[in-house]
Amino acid sequence: MEKRNELYRGKAKTVYTTDDPHYLVMHYRDDVSAFDGVKLAKLDLKGETNNRINAHVMGVLESAGVKTHFVRLLNERESLVKAMKMLPIECVVRNVCAGSMAKRYGIDEGTRLPEPIFEFFLKSDALHDPLCNDDHIRVLGWASADEIGQMKTLTHRVNAVLKPLFAGAGIDLVDYKLEFGHPLDDPQGPLVLGDEFTPDGCRLWDTKSGEKLDKDRFRRDLGEVIERYREVAIRIGAPL
Ligand code: TMP
Ligand code: ASP
Repeated sequence: MEKRNELYRGKAKTVYTTDDPHYLVMHYRDDVSAFDGVKLAKLDLKGETNNRINAHVMGVLESAGVKTHFVRLLNERESLVKAMKMLPIECVVRNVCAGSMAKRYGIDEGTRLPEPIFEFFLKSDALHDPLCNDDHIRVLGWASADEIGQMKTLTHRVNAVLKPLFAGAGIDLVDYKLEFGHPLDDPQGPLVLGDEFTPDGCRLWDTKSGEKLDKDRFRRDLGEVIERYREVAIRIGAPL
């Protein structure tokens, strides 16, 4: 598979076309962004650390029967993925109250939830990813009722696989964000997990100490961002 042209440059990854229109190269850069691109920095080793963690997590999900766009690692910073038409929706599951949910409802961060809470957000930096519901998504045409159902089912299935993966490493999976799409070679088929699963898009707290091991270290200026990302990799068995 030959890497060709830059297709899209996101805040932390760049996507390249290949000689096969059904496959893309995802390049993990060292850039880190928070608050919808307002706070930016470069962190040494971030690209390769996230590339490795993502590859491992996607592999675990595939083994558990969750279809993902991930094909294989290409090198330290790049992975081959299936080309997809992505839905403009972010799916969040929360096992513990934190972040925007804590702020929105005035609930203490760290409050345990008796069952996972699912939230949809519209993917739009310009609008700061507003919270939305099934009706907004369906009536405004961002996804169909069937796709909404699939996003919920798949996101909860991911929780059933990843909560125990992290728990086994002494880490609480507090919340996370997923994005879905249709592979270009199967546009009418079932939704497939796209984008990434890394400490950039989830909250991970050490079970015993409560220490944050995710991008909140950057958002909140806690320091040792990549050190903690690499600790996550080692603890979940993602080879670095
Ligand atoms: P929130 O508490 O800011 O709504 O975020 C919930 C989880 O989803 C958290 O783990 C971060 C992740 N997330 C992203 O990675 N990107 C986003 O744009 C949003 C809204 C959330
Ligand atoms: N993912 C968003 C950004 O990169 C929001 C955040 O993580 O705070 O700016």
